[in-house]
Amino acid sequence: MKIIKSKAELQKAINLLREEHKTIGFIPTMGALHPGHLSLLAAARQNGQAVVCSIFVNPTQFNDKQDFEKYPVTLEEDIAKLLDTDCDILFLPGVGEIYPNGTDQLEAYELGYVETVLDGASRPGHFQGVAQVVSRLFDAVQPDDVYMGQKDYQQCLVIQRLMKLRKDTFNLHFVPTQREPDGLAMSSRNRRLNDNQRALASLLYQCLVSIEAQQDRKSFAVVQKECIDLLTHKGFTPDYVALADAVTLEPLADYDPSKKMIALIAAFIGEVRLIDNLLLNH
Ligand code: PAJ
Repeated sequence: MKIIKSKAELQKAINLLREEHKTIGFIPTMGALHPGHLSLLAAARQNGQAVVCSIFVNPTQFNDKQDFEKYPVTLEEDIAKLLDTDCDILFLPGVGEIYPNGTDQLEAYELGYVETVLDGASRPGHFQGVAQVVSRLFDAVQPDDVYMGQKDYQQCLVIQRLMKLRKDTFNLHFVPTQREPDGLAMSSRNRRLNDNQRALASLLYQCLVSIEAQQDRKSFAVVQKECIDLLTHKGFTPDYVALADAVTLEPLADYDPSKKMIALIAAFIGEVRLIDNLLLNH
């Protein structure tokens, strides 16, 4: 595995792979790698591609300064995991390489409706930051395929939109969420949970399963209230428990079997904000 810090070196290494007639599968990450991340690399490898992974903790997407400061950095462990996983290139840029003109006056993207709801509403500027960094990473890597986790479903839709704006023609793959045995969606932020919080954290997934299971029996409003009450009772501060059209992300007042639906939850446990989602009727 080549570890590369500059865009110029990255282009050279990618050109070499292309000379070998390889296509490039790209997996952008912020590190603190876990099996969820590694499943994205495996998906690229399964498609017979050269695998390029980036690790860059992007300062522009953190609307909460504390969240940025406390974001786990485990570079040595990450490199060991990538060496075990069959990664061709690890792109490890510094802030100056990604934002050579600083981060004060960055472009704004017309991300549309998807930026105005759920995490877009709760985390102002977050998806702009994601678009800013991912756009730069796409320019640097020029991939054939990009692999992103369904765990961050709203982010996937934002990247779809970004690709339209940029007129990108490569493929974006949504990879299913990898979970712990108790159902908790794997996440770098799980490392910040203490033992008590960790034991409770799978409640998000249990709520999603109950939203799915009760769709023929109750109205969504009733199930939503049950979930909010349960989460609150167990010490979470729920941000949203929502049902939405999986294509547009428009909220649905009630279950609508004629649509592809997605249930989404965001909740704080202590200082840590967890998100999860489940596609219904797929
Ligand atoms: P990060 O949170 O490190 O996630 C990197 C990729 O891993 C994302 O596509 C995310 O959806 C995916 N991922 C995370 N947990 C997963 C799980 N349990 N199962 C499957 N995939 C999972 O998302 C980001 O970084 C950043 O916003 C980034 C896109 C890199 C831009 O900075």
